[in-house]
Amino acid sequence: MSAPPLCEGRVVIITGAGRGLGRAHALAYAAEGARLVVNDLGVGLDGTPAADSPARQVAEEIRAAGGEAVAHGGDIATTEGAASLVRVALETYGRLDTLVNNAGFLRDRMLVNLGEDDWDAVMRVHLKGHFLPLRQAAAHWRAEARAGRVPDARVVNTSSGAGLLGSVGQGNYSAAKAGIVALTLVAAAETARYGVQVNAIAPAARTRMTERAFADTMAAPAEGFDVMDPGNVSPLVVWLGSAASAGVTGRVFETEGGRITVMEGWRPGPSVDKGARWTPAEAGETARGLLARADTPGTVYGAR
Ligand SMILES: NC(=O)c1ccc[n+]([C@@H]2O[C@H](COP(=O)([O-])OP(=O)(O)OC[C@H]3O[C@@H](n4cnc5c(N)ncnc54)[C@H](O)[C@@H]3O)[C@@H](O)[C@H]2O)c1
Repeated sequence: MSAPPLCEGRVVIITGAGRGLGRAHALAYAAEGARLVVNDLGVGLDGTPAADSPARQVAEEIRAAGGEAVAHGGDIATTEGAASLVRVALETYGRLDTLVNNAGFLRDRMLVNLGEDDWDAVMRVHLKGHFLPLRQAAAHWRAEARAGRVPDARVVNTSSGAGLLGSVGQGNYSAAKAGIVALTLVAAAETARYGVQVNAIAPAARTRMTERAFADTMAAPAEGFDVMDPGNVSPLVVWLGSAASAGVTGRVFETEGGRITVMEGWRPGPSVDKGARWTPAEAGETARGLLARADTPGTVYGAR
């Protein structure tokens, strides 16, 4: 007998699911029996408004395959967009089990050329675009828990290697994606009591975001395993969003092709306490001694 679908009956919201990784996640959740709210505002690669939201096509694709999906075309970085997103899930299906925060875009520039607008737009869509749907969903789950219906809820956030190690030419994006890791840690700690688990992924895959900038590494092979197919990232996202991931929260996973890596994050390394104030020269000498005993950080992407 085959195993029952991992997400049978669960209601899952995915932001930015009209294309790329979000679309792959939506199809993978639907294949595991989930009922979807497919969000996408439908913007250009740099966030400029586009005529139509591709969310509808993905929802139709899921329904055509016998699944359940509705489209939501709102902006998840606004309070109203985030509120209506959760409302659509509750009005359509009567419940919400999983939120996958995924939407975003890039405005890459070296720091000295990075305009204030490019900073604000990228921080807004990624960091605020994670916070607002998370707050909305968590408020619903807290109300459920208080009403005696403790949920088995999941949030999967989307960070990036850029946020974990840094990435040359992506100061705004790296800062936003690092912020998403910190938000994940806090949300996991704060919402555990309401039956919510919050984790993050740092994916890599061929989408419009990467297919030109990293054309060589992203290209599909003529035959064999297509490592950079975005669908390779989705199985872990489905598991993290399912009841099967019980007990896993506040963690960050890198996922690319067939590889899954758990990030070990910031932990205290070598340390000295003098029990009194250092002079600057002593502090420097001590810092150098500690660095000699500490692990070396990973290399910043794109650094020479
Ligand atoms: N592709 C990669 O290798 C890679 C690597 C690291 C992180 N990521 C992250 O994965 C996520 C998905 O990226 P992708 O590569 O699939 O890109 P993508 O451009 O294919 O998809 C992102 C989608 O988000 C939507 N979107 C943008 N702003 C929105 C808003 N305000 N409200 C609703 N929808 C909005 C866009 O219309 C688009 O369809 C992003 O958060 C990205 O930063 C991707």
